[in-house]
Amino acid sequence: MRNLITGGCGFIGSHLADALHADGQEVIVLDDLSTGKIENIRHLENKPGMQVLIGSVTEQDLVHEAVRKCDRVFHLASAVGVKLIMERPVQTIDTIVTGTQVVLAHANRYRKPVLLTSTSEVYGKSTAVPFEEDGDRLSGPTTKHRWAYACAKALDEFLAMAYWKSSRLPVAVVRLFNTVGPRQTGQYGMVIPNFVRSAKAGLPLQVYGDGNQSRCFCHVADVVRGLIALMDCSQAYGEVVNLGSTEEVTIMELARRVISETSSQSDVLLVPYEHVFGEGFEDMVRRVPSIEKAKRLVGWQPELGLSRTIRDVAASCP
Ligand SMILES: NC(=O)c1ccc[n+]([C@@H]2O[C@H](COP(=O)([O-])OP(=O)(O)OC[C@H]3O[C@@H](n4cnc5c(N)ncnc54)[C@H](O)[C@@H]3O)[C@@H](O)[C@H]2O)c1
Repeated sequence: MRNLITGGCGFIGSHLADALHADGQEVIVLDDLSTGKIENIRHLENKPGMQVLIGSVTEQDLVHEAVRKCDRVFHLASAVGVKLIMERPVQTIDTIVTGTQVVLAHANRYRKPVLLTSTSEVYGKSTAVPFEEDGDRLSGPTTKHRWAYACAKALDEFLAMAYWKSSRLPVAVVRLFNTVGPRQTGQYGMVIPNFVRSAKAGLPLQVYGDGNQSRCFCHVADVVRGLIALMDCSQAYGEVVNLGSTEEVTIMELARRVISETSSQSDVLLVPYEHVFGEGFEDMVRRVPSIEKAKRLVGWQPELGLSRTIRDVAASCP
């Protein structure tokens, strides 16, 4: 198999490249290095069966050539995270929507299977936890830009499903919930890398809001195993599938776990949302996936728990 990984210099994409390469498969990475780093795949760069293309998924010719040469496409390239979306509002929508349009059009032309990574953000403010793939989405107003990420990714999903329905392009949509592990940067607001860095430096861990909001954090190794299994499963085509941990933790409890796992003397500091994201920011209280579909399709469930995830991030963090 020759796999094209868009966003392959990013956090999840680079781990996916590692796993496919270790399995003896060929990998073409396409990345514009906007949030990814070449260091993430430096160890693979000159290995046989590896090719790295630096450029954007919005570039027609580049994507055309890469899709033509591969057997299947893992489309991960995206602007990622609410903080980045708030800071670069126009560029992020363009990357998410235009990039996916370009990738799907070329994949359709050459009939190459695609796995598209979407996000639990698409569930928005829904309170119907655990979130099921066919459940209703509840988005906020267009005047609150944080919802642009969810809406742009939802549009990607609609487009993928439209290709499946109209021309049976084999495409699977995978909604990732919070994914964590080595190489993830805290620069764009990802909570565990930020907590670990603060804890190791003896600085206060900044918890936004009252800390009672909860999330489920899945180890990147579990997520990569799920992505490959779903791409290999023809019954997953035309489906939207959640991948994530069901181990729920409040952000306050997470801060305490990080302090404990790193044997840190740090304190926790509560920071109002508006100090970080501006006035009127909205957040979700709970976000828990139903993973029944992934279990049914490919027998997937997470194997590495939160403690192991925190320890792996801590071990990789300078
Ligand atoms: N990490 C998470 O918790 C999480 C949760 C939900 C969904 N996701 C999804 O998983 C995918 C990967 O996310 P990640 O966490 O590895 O983030 P990341 O920022 O590390 O990876 C994204 C990669 O895409 C690249 N990229 C961005 N715009 C591009 C463009 N126009 N052309 C080419 N490359 C471009 C970046 O340089 C980066 O390497 C994304 O689609 C994201 O929406 C991630």
